[in-house]
Amino acid sequence: MKGLFAVLLMFLVASPCLSIRIISDANPNFNVVDYGARGDGQSDDSAAFVKVWEDVCRATEGTPTLPIPQGKRFLLQPVEFKGACNSTSIIVELQGDLVVPNSMEAWKWADNDKGKRWIRFSRINGLFVNGGGQIDGQGAAWWNYSNSQRPVVC
Ligand SMILES: *[C@@H]1O[C@H](CO)[C@@H](O)[C@H](O)[C@H]1NC(C)=O
Ligand SMILES: *[C@@H]1O[C@H](CO)[C@@H](O)[C@H](O)[C@H]1NC(C)=O
Repeated sequence: MKGLFAVLLMFLVASPCLSIRIISDANPNFNVVDYGARGDGQSDDSAAFVKVWEDVCRATEGTPTLPIPQGKRFLLQPVEFKGACNSTSIIVELQGDLVVPNSMEAWKWADNDKGKRWIRFSRINGLFVNGGGQIDGQGAAWWNYSNSQRPVVC
């Protein structure tokens, strides 16, 4: 009886971990660094983000996960993360920082840029953004511009 109880207890203790491990193994990870992002705060990493997003969006298995690594600063020009994607949910693990260009001169206008949309998510179901990274709007560089001229996230 004691033995059975121990086995039962082991099962109860072990199973949640087991299922978590299985779930995370099934989630494909798309690391933006593998797509050429530098994360040095200076290089334009927009193209790498566009490329990684294509794969995240195309993924059909598990919950596609886009880790943005800690300790890095990714400079982004206006980018659009567009759906509709194949997966019903997507996880963005924002551990590092996303940084806006620090002047109007360094800002590249997108063709369809109505207002200053910096990071745009459109037509995406079940988007989860978590992690301790920052979205750094480099406020000081833009204070002299009016609201309608400043970059926005939407
Ligand atoms: C969804 O998956 C199909 C089949 O793999 C693929 O052809 C299609 O491009 C994917 N959709 C997106 C938005 O990537
Ligand atoms: C904003 O404008 C003030 C006054 O014209 C100027 O002194 C300051 O350098 C400007 N700041 C930036 C970040 O351009």
